Amino acid sequence: MTLIEMKGLRKVFGRNIEAVKNLDLSVEEGEFLVLVGPSGCGKTTTLRMIAGFEEPTAGEIYIQGRLVNDIEPGQRNLGMVFQNLALFPHKTVAENIEFGPRMKKVDPETRLRRVREAAEMVKITHLLDKLPGQCSGGEAQRVALARTLVTDPSVFLLDEPLSSLDAKLRREMRAEIDRLHQRLGKTFVFVTHDQEEAMTLADRIVVMRDGVIEQVGSPLEIYGDPVSHFVADFFGSPSMNLIPGTLSQESGKARFRAPGLTVELPPSFSQAPAGEATLGFRPEHLAVSQNGGIFRGEVRLVEPLGKDTLLYFDRGGERPLIAVVEGTRTFREGDTLGVSVNPDLLYLFGGDGKRIRRGSKGTGIRPA
Ligand SMILES: Nc1ncnc2c1ncn2[C@@H]1O[C@H](COP(=O)(O)OP(=O)(O)OP(=O)(O)O)[C@@H](O)[C@H]1O
Ligand SMILES: [Mg+2]
Repeated sequence: MTLIEMKGLRKVFGRNIEAVKNLDLSVEEGEFLVLVGPSGCGKTTTLRMIAGFEEPTAGEIYIQGRLVNDIEPGQRNLGMVFQNLALFPHKTVAENIEFGPRMKKVDPETRLRRVREAAEMVKITHLLDKLPGQCSGGEAQRVALARTLVTDPSVFLLDEPLSSLDAKLRREMRAEIDRLHQRLGKTFVFVTHDQEEAMTLADRIVVMRDGVIEQVGSPLEIYGDPVSHFVADFFGSPSMNLIPGTLSQESGKARFRAPGLTVELPPSFSQAPAGEATLGFRPEHLAVSQNGGIFRGEVRLVEPLGKDTLLYFDRGGERPLIAVVEGTRTFREGDTLGVSVNPDLLYLFGGDGKRIRRGSKGTGIRPA
């Protein structure tokens, strides 16, 4: 069932800062929806419009079928965790968590019980008497979460709740938010600019760019079936190798050429229009050998990551080509190697950045 629906949503700040351009999006009940995109693409603005802290310049927002454009934030039954946490510095953790229910005039006994339950859920019972300033970054994030949990909202709106944490803590908190979502069965709308966070948490990912939606899909669809150069580049670490060049159609055969690289494309590309194009292939889909390959080049950098090793190939001024190989194989900087790729795992993007074709084995679900 659709819980939140946004139609033609637009937000202009001042005279001409168009933060959100024309957004149509629905959020299904119980799903974990992640809004992801680079800084400034309109994620926070979208979330704040849902929450009611920002008035749309145009368009409608419906929650459970009811138009809420003119409904106060407090009446929307949503819980928002802000990008900057916004905890009261002079109130204890317990008082911070208790604030919402107190404003709603919940009786003291129920308040106390709810604060305890929320604190237990995010494991901060031992911090209840501290001030926010005496908490670590991760602890403060948990307090902010508890403060929202305690209001028992129908939807959780989380704006980069993990961004101030170090990598390890972020992974831990990520798992905890995932558990919380499963345990509560509530709807989550989660904003991040971290593609990995989006991939691991989301049921559906909404990729935003410059105030518009670029693509919506499951993590696997977004990864395997990116609709544009932008999405292909944004997801995956290291990201997809994207090589600008030219596509030609010669007697029914598609051929891609770029400096130092010529690739015969499989029959599925024979309808692609000739001209300026970008060829894409993921680092993990490359095979490296002494001879042959679509590209031969010198290894400029070897980056051992343990299980895998990254090889960076020099492409003379262009972005380096990156291959992922098993960590047990040894390569040295300065080695000249050939790189090959299964043609069924190739992606082709047009001059406008839109995907034209992909090989028949892209890891996505739908054929191109
Ligand atoms: N109150 C405001 N007044 C004027 N411009 C604003 C305001 N809030 C946001 N903007 C602008 O709107 C655009 C979108 O901002 P928004 O905060 O939604 O981005 P974001 O995707 O959340 O970015 P980040 O990842 O950096 O948090 C930006 O260009 C920003 O400068
Ligand atoms: Mg933001």
